[in-house]
Amino acid sequence: MKKILDLITAEMKAAFAECGYEEAYAKVTLSNRPDLCEYQCNGAMAAAKAYKKKPYDIAAEVVAKLSDSPVFSAVDAVMPGFINLKINSGYLADYMNGMAGEDQCGCEKVENPLTIVVDYGGANVAKPLHVGHLRPAIIGESIKRLGRFLGHHVIGDVHLGDWGLQMGLIIEELKDRKPELPYFDDSFEGEYPKEPPFTISELEEIYPAASIKSKEDEAFSKRAHDATLKLQNGYKPYRAIWQHILNVSVADLKKNYGNLDVSFDLWKGESDAEPYIPGLIKELQDKGLAYESQGALVVDIAEEGDSKELPPCIVRKSDGAALYSTSDLGTIIERERDIKPDWYIYITDKRQELHFIQVFRVAKKAGFTAPDKKMSHLGFGTMNGKDGKPFKTRDGGVMRLETMIEDICQAAYEKILENRTVSEDEARETSKIVGLAALKYGDLSNQASKDYIFDMDRFVSFEGNTGPYILYTIVRIKSILAKYQELDDKYEGEVRILAPVSGAEKDLMLQLSRYNEIMETSFAELAPHKICQYIYELANAFNRFYHDTKIISEENKKQQASWVRLISLTKDVLNECIYVLGIEAPERM
Ligand code: ARG
Repeated sequence: MKKILDLITAEMKAAFAECGYEEAYAKVTLSNRPDLCEYQCNGAMAAAKAYKKKPYDIAAEVVAKLSDSPVFSAVDAVMPGFINLKINSGYLADYMNGMAGEDQCGCEKVENPLTIVVDYGGANVAKPLHVGHLRPAIIGESIKRLGRFLGHHVIGDVHLGDWGLQMGLIIEELKDRKPELPYFDDSFEGEYPKEPPFTISELEEIYPAASIKSKEDEAFSKRAHDATLKLQNGYKPYRAIWQHILNVSVADLKKNYGNLDVSFDLWKGESDAEPYIPGLIKELQDKGLAYESQGALVVDIAEEGDSKELPPCIVRKSDGAALYSTSDLGTIIERERDIKPDWYIYITDKRQELHFIQVFRVAKKAGFTAPDKKMSHLGFGTMNGKDGKPFKTRDGGVMRLETMIEDICQAAYEKILENRTVSEDEARETSKIVGLAALKYGDLSNQASKDYIFDMDRFVSFEGNTGPYILYTIVRIKSILAKYQELDDKYEGEVRILAPVSGAEKDLMLQLSRYNEIMETSFAELAPHKICQYIYELANAFNRFYHDTKIISEENKKQQASWVRLISLTKDVLNECIYVLGIEAPERM
């Protein structure tokens, strides 16, 4: 369906044009004085300068042309030259009927879908998922779902950290613990075992132990470096261990991301970029882009108009090793070959901003991708504790994601029991849905780039701008709909949403009508927080309407059926929105 804002703007444009003014002045926005009007146009102010007239006179001329427009119920010119608009109630009701009759409540799929890679997750193999992985998972999943909802071809890639020094550390630690394993016997010529030489819990213990050891024991640290190099050069026994590490770790990561209801199409990693690295280094050299600087190989990326000085991108260290940037460049080459994305979206901590500027610029300069390729880095802020510092466990450690999810589900469980509408068993089940919603909404409702405070009590609250409040609203609508279904005397005729009879009902409709625009804008700006903000306002509008409308006891059956359809549309819109946020609603709570 056309966006309501576009329909209003088209009306306004026609009026400006009829009066002989440029259409471009006919820009309409949501009102910033909801007490006076619903939408507004400030174009007469700008036009006044161009046409050397008084703004009010222009506004009055335009308003006169709109006196019998079917779209508006009120069009007023007010000093010094604003045009205040109210939408015609019948027109708005028609728009509601349109939404109720369309797929995805009238939020259309795009005509020309793009192929989009969303690179999120970023988990590191052999290390448990911790709260630092929460944000990319939640934000990325939502961007992916939203893109698909709008009809794009979106591919989510977890892009594992599976190729660094942690591999050498694990190999050497394993060698110290189990020297008898065939991987460490130079004369071994048979097949390596299919069974991994460790479980996931052992692996998760081996890595930190090795990491500590390498800081205290220089010889060990050197061995780990050498082992990493050997692995990267294809040394068979270490490749075999690496494959075990990957298998064991990925199985566990899949389970953990699954618990968050986050899934990836591709489970690729930094190691997959490896084969492209020698070639890309050579290409950078042949094209005269890469040069030696203090032993390292670097590419200049500074451009005219940069607001600050940007350092060159290092593509090879002085010891010959590739780096994080090199592996991202290799990955771009692979993605161009296999996927040919129209748009690359990377979701990482915002402290990686410079890294991505460098990678994007080198990729374009070298022609690894087109110079005008859309490449976005969505950098997110830190999740802090109530003390304003990065969130930690009580004893100052890094909290495992599993623990955090358990904690918040427990808190949701207690909240649900306070309400005492469901049994303990049902509360237990429901709390898994509500807890995740609390966690995800608590995160997504903040602009991604901002830091935010993880405040469990607030997140699980059923009131205020929280996930549970939104779910509670949906559950409430479901329960009204169920009650309506049980009535014997339902309206028999064709059900239509009728023009609103109260201010609260009209407000609810106005909120609903903004839905398709919100979805589009949120995606274009990679801003899921705008969807959160929208559903919060929508839920509020619904609750105000419900507060002063007695639906179930209404005697006018036609009116009653209209309301039922309206709240059912509200539920559908809320459901579509929470779906793209990666949130589910329970039946009861
Ligand atoms: N593994 C990386 C980290 O822990 C994040 C990877 C993000 N994606 C990328 N293509 N660089 O910081």
